[in-house]
Amino acid sequence: MEDSGQSEDKRRRALEVTLEEERSISRARNTILLANIKELNDVYDTLREKLKELRYRDERIRSFEAELVRANKLSTLGELAGSIAHEIKNPLISIQGFAGRIRKTESGEKIERYARFIEKEADRLSQVLARLLAFSRMEEPRADLVDMNDIVDDTVLFMEHHLTRFKNVEIVVEKDPNLKPVRSDRIHIQQTVVNIVMNAAQAMPDGGKIRISTGQDNTHAFISIADTGIGIKEEDLGRIFEPFFTTKEKEEGTGLGLSLCKKLIEANHGKIEVESKVGEGATFKIMIPFHQA
Ligand SMILES: Nc1ncnc2c1ncn2[C@@H]1O[C@H](COP(=O)(O)OP(=O)(O)OP(=O)(O)O)[C@@H](O)[C@H]1O
Ligand SMILES: [Mg+2]
Repeated sequence: MEDSGQSEDKRRRALEVTLEEERSISRARNTILLANIKELNDVYDTLREKLKELRYRDERIRSFEAELVRANKLSTLGELAGSIAHEIKNPLISIQGFAGRIRKTESGEKIERYARFIEKEADRLSQVLARLLAFSRMEEPRADLVDMNDIVDDTVLFMEHHLTRFKNVEIVVEKDPNLKPVRSDRIHIQQTVVNIVMNAAQAMPDGGKIRISTGQDNTHAFISIADTGIGIKEEDLGRIFEPFFTTKEKEEGTGLGLSLCKKLIEANHGKIEVESKVGEGATFKIMIPFHQA
């Protein structure tokens, strides 16, 4: 009996020791767990701070970019301002002069002639203003999925109506049937093609051929517009994209067409290339990248 009582006692003590050991292990575990949780909380807080900072930086970069775009637009408009003043001043002076003469003359025939002059000058003014408005209203390009072949079809349809003014101008179309679409602003490209085709027609006073073709290389889809007109002098090649550069009669051109085209295509991350020989015609190539850099 004595023996069994003693061993019972021993077992209980051993059990208590084990229990105590387990308790202290579990206490240690808890302490470690708590420490881990605290550390995780700290990491979480730091991450949240970092995220906040990143968001702030992102916002700053965005507003900086927007400012750059605006400044760029403004500087182009600033560049334009000088020439604009000139372009508007001259017709205005003529209008003033003719209006004065109308007031002084009694000849109905003269009055009619002066009125026609005024009309012509006012027409020119409104042409210049319409083009300028297109510049200043130029919005961020949309990212339409554009099939350049469709643009060519639409342009031909649109131009057939206008080209009746030009005698013996024939349009030939060659479309690449495997042309991949590009992301860009359909209206911007359309406007550019129409401007360039109009120039081509105007460069062929005695008639000729306008060949509109599409194609692609690894990086770009393109529309090429080639005419058999008078061509562009080498010294003018570097200037044709400048605002108000024109070799046309006063009534025929404002010289804003190609500068607007360039601006539109660059806004869509593309470029326009030109090749020409005097007497042999000119080729304009509008290139739009498949992926924006
Ligand atoms: N296909 C072409 N063949 C020969 N010359 C061209 C051709 N396209 C453009 N040019 C030259 O480039 C100049 C500038 O063209 P742009 O379209 O900017 O103005 P414009 O045609 O003179 O006037 P607008 O477009 O305002 O009617 C033209 O005056 C012309 O000298
Ligand atoms: Mg033009």
